[in-house]
Amino acid sequence: MARLAAVLFLASGVRLAAAATAQGFQPPSKGPLVQSANYTSFSNSTLKDKPTCKGKAFNRIIQVWLENTDFATAASTPIFESLAEQGILLTNYNSVTHPSEPNYVAAIGGDFFGMHDDNMYHVPSNISTVVDLLEDKGVTWATYQENMPADEFYGFNFNAKNYITPGAADYPYYVRKHNPLVIYDAISQDAKRVKRIRTFNDFANDVVNGTLPQWVFVTPNMVNDAHDTTIDFAASFLEYWLLPLLTDPRVNDGETLILLTFDESETFSQQNTVFSVLLGGAVPLNLRGTTDDTLYTHYSSLSTVQANWGLKSLGRQDTVAAVSNVFSFVAAKTGYKNVKVPANQVPQFNLTGVAPGALTSAQFVPFAAPNLKARGAGGGPVLTRPGLDPRLTAASLPPPVNMLALNTTTPWQMSPRTTSGKSIIPCADATCA
Ligand SMILES: *[C@@H]1O[C@H](CO)[C@@H](O)[C@H](O)[C@H]1NC(C)=O
Ligand SMILES: *[C@@H]1O[C@H](CO)[C@@H](O)[C@H](O)[C@H]1NC(C)=O
Ligand SMILES: *[C@@H]1O[C@H](CO)[C@@H](O)[C@H](O)[C@H]1NC(C)=O
Ligand SMILES: *[C@@H]1O[C@H](CO)[C@@H](O)[C@H](O)[C@H]1NC(C)=O
Ligand SMILES: *[C@@H]1O[C@H](CO)[C@@H](O)[C@H](O)[C@H]1NC(C)=O
Ligand SMILES: *[C@@H]1O[C@H](CO)[C@@H](O)[C@H](O)[C@H]1NC(C)=O
Repeated sequence: MARLAAVLFLASGVRLAAAATAQGFQPPSKGPLVQSANYTSFSNSTLKDKPTCKGKAFNRIIQVWLENTDFATAASTPIFESLAEQGILLTNYNSVTHPSEPNYVAAIGGDFFGMHDDNMYHVPSNISTVVDLLEDKGVTWATYQENMPADEFYGFNFNAKNYITPGAADYPYYVRKHNPLVIYDAISQDAKRVKRIRTFNDFANDVVNGTLPQWVFVTPNMVNDAHDTTIDFAASFLEYWLLPLLTDPRVNDGETLILLTFDESETFSQQNTVFSVLLGGAVPLNLRGTTDDTLYTHYSSLSTVQANWGLKSLGRQDTVAAVSNVFSFVAAKTGYKNVKVPANQVPQFNLTGVAPGALTSAQFVPFAAPNLKARGAGGGPVLTRPGLDPRLTAASLPPPVNMLALNTTTPWQMSPRTTSGKSIIPCADATCA
């Protein structure tokens, strides 16, 4: 059934939007820095982090990803309008594909590897991510996932007590498809790194104890991020969660950059431009309340941190200049030269069909090594991980195979029945998709 829906959806190119539920926003906690029983488990420990690596334009970056909203919809919603007045509104920031999961994966590993659905995947440990780049320079990091029931949670989703409508059935507030770090084995299968896949109760704990890391990826739950609800619901969430943090120096000090963005737009038949705003103390005073029409994508968050901290690169889309411009004020401070892409040469980022890659069963090709000759915005070489075979270049790989016709799936797809624990269960039957 799930596969049939996916095929119909791909064929028609029209979004099968879940009807916005009628639920109204309710705060999940007494405040963003107060732990809550609505989050299933309490924090066990605070990270030990202190900022260690000084950046050229900022010392901390916090990305907050909302869901499935066209630029114009957010731009005409009051809270978003007032946030734009406090920061730099990026008017030409694009997601890289549809639907959700490949966008999240792209922002961490520099590619979506052909993925065109929200199934349960994992990426082998020889594929590098932003975490490798950050650790290489001693930049501290963590992700905070709202309603993830516990640190290191590996499952496909989690149904928690319905805190909005008490007594109603448990609600799938947490989904793995919006938690990109857990999808990469280089992070989730590493005993030390996996502790940095954290809950919102940990966020409260880490901030209050003064140990919020320098690179932070925040995913609100499925109602707060507008996925199952409306932009007004997400606006109420921002009023509850983001606004107080903007005035709290433990989160937003004078050297913090906050990227508020959306995973993708809602209307698949248009360019995939999403409302994105740069906020925080690191935004130069003279640029607050301005707009920037430079062409950016989710890959720009990779190139921007590379430029800021002088990091190595992934040698994937993060080093393709036309899709990875560095946020202009950071480019200016680091000496990076952005490219100007003529309007008629801007790629269509609203892909909905099947593209060859390791994370698609329909046109499977193995993972390729990155382009080892590429140079990223940080200036350094491409960082590779143990187990990477550099001879497996994109050009050397075999032609795509339709695994579905062979009644199997890509080896990197798992059964969504894996709802807990850390074991990897390969998916080899048709019920997986
Ligand atoms: C859980 O959320 C509900 C709805 O906002 C709220 O009434 C309740 O106080 C919350 N529980 C805790 C422990 O914060
Ligand atoms: C804290 O530890 C307990 C016991 O091991 C566990 O059940 C709980 O999920 C942990 N909390 C978090 C936030 O991971
Ligand atoms: C600070 O961290 C300690 C140690 O993990 C923890 O016991 C305490 O609850 C934290 N403080 C807050 C306010 O979360
Ligand atoms: C992508 O958007 C363009 C308009 O920018 C539109 O012409 C095209 O049909 C869209 N592609 C899909 C697959 O919907
Ligand atoms: C990455 O590792 C996987 C699993 O060991 C292996 O099958 C694959 O060939 C490797 N790919 C590259 C590009 O090194
Ligand atoms: C795939 O499964 C179908 C239905 O069970 C069967 O008819 C077909 O022969 C199988 N194909 C292969 C390549 O095994």
